[in-house]
Amino acid sequence: MIDPFGRTISYLRVSVTDRCDFRCIYCMAEDMTFLPKAEVLTLEELDRLCSAFVGLGVRKLRLTGGEPLVRKNIMELIRSLSGHLKSGALDELTLTTNGSQLAKYADDLARCGVKRVNVSIDTLDPEKFTAITRWGKLPVVLDGLRAAKQAGLKVKINTVALKGVNDEEIFDLVDWAGREGHDITFIEVMPMGDIGGENRLDQFFPISMLRAKLQQRWTLTDTAERTGGPARYVRVEETGQRVGFITPLTHNFCESCNRVRLTCMGTLYMCLGQDDAADLRTPLRQSESDATLIEAIREAITRKPKGHDFIIDRRHQGPAVSRHMSVTGG
Ligand code: GTP
Ligand code: 5AD
Ligand code: SF4
Repeated sequence: MIDPFGRTISYLRVSVTDRCDFRCIYCMAEDMTFLPKAEVLTLEELDRLCSAFVGLGVRKLRLTGGEPLVRKNIMELIRSLSGHLKSGALDELTLTTNGSQLAKYADDLARCGVKRVNVSIDTLDPEKFTAITRWGKLPVVLDGLRAAKQAGLKVKINTVALKGVNDEEIFDLVDWAGREGHDITFIEVMPMGDIGGENRLDQFFPISMLRAKLQQRWTLTDTAERTGGPARYVRVEETGQRVGFITPLTHNFCESCNRVRLTCMGTLYMCLGQDDAADLRTPLRQSESDATLIEAIREAITRKPKGHDFIIDRRHQGPAVSRHMSVTGG
């Protein structure tokens, strides 16, 4: 699949549920209304949709949420999708998770051929962790990380940089991740959805200067290595770990975009930062044959926009798109 800007689409992000057991302050309001279960695709339907994408050239599948591991019987879907790894149709099957259920699932995931997981940790201070996630407990997530390591999964830590909240902790986080052997990426907050009174300008911490700052402490070498997503990495010579930067606001990376995202309702968003979407649930349910569905996917790709219009400044402090990050899992 090639979009109008010549970009090959080989990465599908699938939000298997919009629900989450946390309520991160940059992601959700505390009193969220979630989709009624009847609106959500079954695991079999999600499997069929993913498989159609794999048939069209997707090589990398990432399950997201909400929190993917709170979806009931999620391992059934993962087990089934792992068949595409075995057949060689897929290069990578992976997850972005808040880590709360990792202790329970790490072994099963590894058995299904999952090689690495991305886990969100914005602070190592247990009280601050609960303040940011509202409902999360740091020790539970750290247990999950230990289980992941023991199961042989590689871990990438995702840290959303938040002004006045964790910006002072960035050195400690890099230090800790280095000791644990995890890569870590710092992410600029994106203005998605109403987050209940929180102001995006108050949250926004630009990370464009971070590289220079880290260089005061560590020897960093540029690396062209990529993980298939938007992060640009440097390697820390002292620890061997990679530190990544995801900079939608200060350094747009849309020109090399290779991904689209599917919601648990079967809606396909061609860009994280745009409202345009395609309904795949109707063609999915219309016929047992995949022909109409494949046609709908191909048509959607012809509508992939050039990029997002995220902006955070004094005049733009509210959401750039009305849906929350948890609808597409980033
Ligand atoms: P790997 O590169 O495979 O490790 O994963 P990833 O960085 O693509 O995925 P992850 O789920 O860890 O996402 C990290 C951050 O990148 C999240 O905040 C996502 O919202 C953000 N992100 C992923 N893809 C895009 C994109 O296309 N546009 C923007 N603006 N942000 C993205
Ligand atoms: N801006 C940037 N990143 C976000 N995430 C959730 N909401 C936002 C936001 N508004 C991150 C989570 C997780 C990943 C899926 O996206 O921390 O790591
Ligand atoms: Fe849940 Fe992730 Fe959103 Fe936090 S960022 S509320 S863990 S979906």
